Amino acid sequence: AADGRHNGDVYRDYTADKNAPSQDTLYTTSNGAPYAHPYEAQRVGENGPLLLQDFHLIDLLSHFDRERIPERVVHAKGSGAHGYYKTTSSLEDLTCADLFKEGKQCPISIRFSTVGGEAGSHDCARDPRGFAIKFRTEEGNWDLVCNNTPVFFLRDPAKFPHFIHTQKRDPATHLSGADDSTMFWDYLSQNPESIHQVMVLMGDRGIPDGFRFMHGYSGHTLKLINKEGKWVYAQFHMKSKQGTKFITQDDSATKSPDHSQKDLYYAIENGDYPGWDVNVQTMTAQEAEDLWAKQKVNVFDLTHVWPQAQFPLRKVGEFYLNENVKNYFAEVEQIAFSPSHLVPGIEPSADPVLQSRLFSYPDTHRHRVGTNYQQLPVNAPRVPYRMANFQRDGSMAFYNQGARSNYLSSIEPIRFQNRAVDLNKTHGHFIGEAVTFLSEIRAEDFNGPRALWEKVFDNGAKERFVKNVAGHMSRCKKEEPIKRQIAIFREVSEDLASRLEKATGVKGYPGISGLRFNGSHNGLSKDSSLRAAN
Ligand code: HEM
Repeated sequence: AADGRHNGDVYRDYTADKNAPSQDTLYTTSNGAPYAHPYEAQRVGENGPLLLQDFHLIDLLSHFDRERIPERVVHAKGSGAHGYYKTTSSLEDLTCADLFKEGKQCPISIRFSTVGGEAGSHDCARDPRGFAIKFRTEEGNWDLVCNNTPVFFLRDPAKFPHFIHTQKRDPATHLSGADDSTMFWDYLSQNPESIHQVMVLMGDRGIPDGFRFMHGYSGHTLKLINKEGKWVYAQFHMKSKQGTKFITQDDSATKSPDHSQKDLYYAIENGDYPGWDVNVQTMTAQEAEDLWAKQKVNVFDLTHVWPQAQFPLRKVGEFYLNENVKNYFAEVEQIAFSPSHLVPGIEPSADPVLQSRLFSYPDTHRHRVGTNYQQLPVNAPRVPYRMANFQRDGSMAFYNQGARSNYLSSIEPIRFQNRAVDLNKTHGHFIGEAVTFLSEIRAEDFNGPRALWEKVFDNGAKERFVKNVAGHMSRCKKEEPIKRQIAIFREVSEDLASRLEKATGVKGYPGISGLRFNGSHNGLSKDSSLRAAN
């Protein structure tokens, strides 16, 4: 303003000019002072030493020195895009979430990823794929942080860091699984509940042909609560409208390290917008008890799937990706998804892995991105009301809620919205029997894997599976994990185990009943000393 005042706002709106083309901008230092040329340096005489007073050069170098934030501890390599979701068939009978009302739409952002590799690793690694969606609903951001497989390696969250470490580089040799798969097979052969995910990983689905051609699954059980306070268990399934496509181990070696990134980016750039159907599978608490009692499928155990014949998929909506990011770092590297970013009408179940994830993600975001990660434009909620709370200050607090009261003030009272449903009705209903024995290996753990081998894989898929496993095992430096893992495969199918014995030249143990596992109780053993993990 002409009088030198700030007109009530001292803040510079960076977002307004960030998309201006370079030719409409002026080169400045970070404090906004015009500078003649980026290569100009202040020095003593023509060839003398540089000067500490040269803020421009120090500004340039010191910012460069700080360009990196920690990469994600898992899912470090990924691709992202923006788009929109719309509800095509109301879910109001089951949930009061605004998003699922008839005809509702909202903007979304998605990040797809591989899991084990580093930020620069190969897109065609044999690995599950991450499939994380941020729904920007009118009641806040809801993150659905999924994988492309409906099951997972474990049902005990304490195992996660151990398992992930076996996918990372060896602490001494610094070699990855590409050279040495010993840790990987040692872990899997001690934790047989991983077998279902191993069957998926080592089969054709282990290397999707880009992110457009894969489905996404919540894997975990969530809870949907309707306006009467009635709730059901729910799992979400995102089905690719492009169908699924996979590439073989041999073909993967011929692909670009950024195969999936290229495929997604150029599909969107060329107007070929990928889409997914959102389906929900639900069951009541009573059905969950029955499922445990009769079929020994535990809704809090994501190593199992819910049988679709009994619990059919119901389509509720669909989403499309129609916008590439303009700035990868700001919109993909800094985006922060968490299973605990929920909205009214959607709640976590008592699944212990999910419960641990509720903590772990915002914890890592505060470390990886910073205390105020939710204030960054890509993470900030876009709600129709003025959001307010009593969080203040901390590193980079640029939305610090102005002059508003920073405590629960009676002088300037803040407004509250009543809960849509009485919490007493939605909590305290954790079911009993269905939570037990998560750490024990049972005969039922092999049903899903066996169905894959016997009913889903055709002959070609079986041959590729055996080749993939044997190839991977050839990098294992010890025989014992292979003998144990073949015993685990034998519980799936004798045919599978004997084919693997032929392919690896290793004779596996006859089955798991005589084995002790260092992470799981062996429920298949008659010997009580083997039933307990050592
Ligand atoms: C990323 C922890 C299991 C899906 C991450 C990150 C952590 C983490 C710390 C990095 C987040 C970030 O830096 O922003 C865990 C723990 C687990 C677990 C402790 C089990 C105890 C799972 C499961 C799924 C999953 C079961 C899928 C069903 C993902 C996805 C990402 C991710 C998709 C990447 C998100 C993104 O693109 O930013 N996980 N995770 N995780 N996790 Fe998990």
